[in-house]
Amino acid sequence: MHVEKSGCKVNLLLNILRRREDGFHELETVMQPIPLYDDLTFEKCSQTGIHLECSHPGVPTGAENLIFRAARAFQEASGIREGVRIRLEKNLPVAAGVGGGSGNAAATLIGLNRLFGEPLSADALVPLAADLGSDVPFFLQSGPAIAIGRGEQVDSLAPFEILQGAAILLVNPGFGVSTPWAYKNLIPEDLSSEKALAAKEFVSVAQSGDWESFIGSLYNSLERPVFAKYPVLSIIKETLIECGADGALLSGSGATVFGLVREQKNAEGIKQRFASAYGSDCWCEIVSFGKRS
Ligand code: C5P
Repeated sequence: MHVEKSGCKVNLLLNILRRREDGFHELETVMQPIPLYDDLTFEKCSQTGIHLECSHPGVPTGAENLIFRAARAFQEASGIREGVRIRLEKNLPVAAGVGGGSGNAAATLIGLNRLFGEPLSADALVPLAADLGSDVPFFLQSGPAIAIGRGEQVDSLAPFEILQGAAILLVNPGFGVSTPWAYKNLIPEDLSSEKALAAKEFVSVAQSGDWESFIGSLYNSLERPVFAKYPVLSIIKETLIECGADGALLSGSGATVFGLVREQKNAEGIKQRFASAYGSDCWCEIVSFGKRS
C-alpha cells in the first residue's frame, strides 16, 4: 500500500495573454502551493483494472475522473497491467480554482510510480501530466512556480520569503465554476492586460520583500468574467478586505477567493469577522507560512 498527500494552489498572478489556435489560451501565472490536502491510497489488487473509490459522493469515480485517467496513462506508459485500487479522501472543495483535481492527477502518477517500483523516471511523468491538464505538471513539483504556455511549462521557484509569517485565508462558497466557461467568456480587453505584471516582474516584486507592492501586483484576468456571472464572489473579495485582509483575489477560475494577511496572528480574527459579516456557510480555511526570521 502507498499513501500520497495531494495538495492545492492559488494563483497569485494569472495573466491570460491570447487565445490559441488549439482553443487553449497562452498565459503567464505564478502559483503558490497551499498546504491543504486530499489523501490518496494506492494498493495493488488481484482484479485487473482501475478501481476508484471516493469519500465524496459528488465526485465521479469512472473514466471521467482525472485520477482514473492518470492511472490509465501510467499503465499505458509503464506497460504495467496489474490491477490497482485507489481511494480518495476528498477534503478540498471541488471545481474550486485551487487545482484539487489536478493535484489528484499528479499524485496518482507519483503514487502509482512508487507503488510499482518507479518504472518511469520523474521526467517521463511530465508529458503524461501535461496531457491530463494544464495545471497537472505544477503538482509534480512542490514549490511555488512560474507557469507559461497553457500553464503546463513549469519553472520552479524558491519559497517566497515574503510569505514567511503571513497567512492566506481561503473562502469557497460551495458552488463550482466551469473553467472552460470562464475562458470562453474572456473578451479582448481582458487579454494581455496592462494592469498585470509579467510573471518574472511579479516574482521580482515578491522577492523585493515590499508587502504593499506585492499586494498591489496580485492579478487574475478571469475575475472580470467570473465576477460578472457570480457577483457574490466580488462581495466575498470585498468582505475579506473589509474584515482586515491586506489584499484578496479570485484563484484560477474560482469559485475560491483568497485573502492575504501580513501578520498570521490576525488571521483568526479576520476569519471570525468574515463569518459574522458574510455568514458561516462557506468553506473557510487559514493557512500559515512559517515564522518570519
Ligand atoms: O487544461 P485543462 O483541462 O485544465 O483546461 C480546462 C479548460 O480550460 C480547457 O478545455 C480550456 O477550455 C480552458 N483553458 C484554456 N487555456 C488554458 C487552460 C485552460 O482555454 N491555458
